Amino acid sequence: MKEEINVNFLGIDLGTSSVKLIIMNEKGQILASVSKDYDVSYPKVGWAEQNPNDWWNSTKDGIRELINSHNIKPETIDGISFSGQMHGLVILDSNNKVLMPAILWCDQRTQKQCDYLNKEFGQDKLSKNTGNMALTGFTLPKLLWVKENKPDVYAKIAHIMLPKDYISFKLTGIFASDASDASGTIMFDVENRKWSKEILDLFEIKENVLPKVYESYEVIGNVSKKVSNETELSTSTKVIAGAGDQAAGAVGTGTVNSGILSVALGTSGVVFASSEKFYVDNENRLHSFCHANGKWHQMGVILSAASSLKWWVDNVSGDMFEKLLSEAESSAVGSNKLFFLPYLIGERTPYNDPCAKGSFIGLNVIHKRGDMTRAILEGVSFALRDSLEILRSLNVDMKEIRISGGGSKSKLWRQIIADVFNLKVSIINSKEGPAYGAAILAAVGCKLFNSVNEACEALIQTTDITEPIRENVEKYDKLYKVYSSLYTCLKDKFKEIDNLLI
Ligand code: XUL
Repeated sequence: MKEEINVNFLGIDLGTSSVKLIIMNEKGQILASVSKDYDVSYPKVGWAEQNPNDWWNSTKDGIRELINSHNIKPETIDGISFSGQMHGLVILDSNNKVLMPAILWCDQRTQKQCDYLNKEFGQDKLSKNTGNMALTGFTLPKLLWVKENKPDVYAKIAHIMLPKDYISFKLTGIFASDASDASGTIMFDVENRKWSKEILDLFEIKENVLPKVYESYEVIGNVSKKVSNETELSTSTKVIAGAGDQAAGAVGTGTVNSGILSVALGTSGVVFASSEKFYVDNENRLHSFCHANGKWHQMGVILSAASSLKWWVDNVSGDMFEKLLSEAESSAVGSNKLFFLPYLIGERTPYNDPCAKGSFIGLNVIHKRGDMTRAILEGVSFALRDSLEILRSLNVDMKEIRISGGGSKSKLWRQIIADVFNLKVSIINSKEGPAYGAAILAAVGCKLFNSVNEACEALIQTTDITEPIRENVEKYDKLYKVYSSLYTCLKDKFKEIDNLLI
């Protein structure tokens, strides 16, 4: 009898602190998962860089470990796809060598270039051509920074790509990106899903230095012979374009129809709404990007979500998450009148202000560590509510939140989000986040499903629902009003602090 070959899919999530690789079978079950850490380097205040070859070496190690220690037969892997940290600038010379460390999504060095783009060049013109305004994290301002500050490096650029595209290039030898990730470059016409000829012409960027753009679920090629020799992957394995981490994460939670919002409590924090149509709010307060299902999405991004709690654990309290979270449970709604502003590396939505600073406001001798931990959970939730309020003002349909990311493991934090947003919050059967979305994209690319939406329908179920508690909702409404006025009171002082000559 012919041996039946199972079909599996490899999802690779190229994150900021690690790369996570998972193997998913045809039924959507996870057979194996591996994670490899790497460092971010912060060479100057506000800068954040990584070496693309660290990503590739960690990915290769992860693939080898999956195949050897987890006994995954390479010939069963039908397709590979990706979720990637977005916006990072990766540049290669004509020999395909990395020219300088990748400048990451959270790097803040490009305020001058953003001011030029938004004020002199014109936010309206940018928005008309790309659907978005320039933000310090985005890719075009980074490219202009290199042009201005490292002209010798700029002159050698033969290829520009995004972080996950470097991995697909190393796997296949092909330069490819996808519409969701390309949306975060400000060189991409989001409405028409192609590079913006106007922007490329105006900034003298040749289209052939940019990768060809695919839909997230399209096949770009196969694993190369070289990589097959290095990793044991089969050359018959297809490589599928993949998506930016937020779009991939939304696929992983089934946020592919209107009415469902996804909230990600990862390093960054995101409120994400999927939409059938392209639209832009007139002040570009939210990002308007292509979704990984061939449609569009709007999202607001805060820069320090679960990383605020990590900062609290690593740099201040030095205790275990579990202990701190149980102390936070014994505090109360409003953390005994203590507020936390989570602007630990500046803030994106809604302020776009690299000078914004993290702050505890309202400290009193009565406060204990539990109040401070709870204030962090509440402060991040209020910061996310800023994005929710913009979506509400645009009449976006919202019935339910699907929550993901490290922070979503905390029942307390899920309850706070439900209460601050006044929406029910569910978690889903898979805990793998964007890596799961990447594996689903691989499965769609390999034609196991006809569409991303069909795959999500078949594979994703909600498992745990947290309903808002009316009494808390009312209290949080009042607290949110105070929270949202604090930045306005402090923003000039944040700038003054930056200019202190000490
Ligand atoms: C999205 C964004 C982050 C990064 C890192 O706009 O900046 O999601 O991709 O997670």
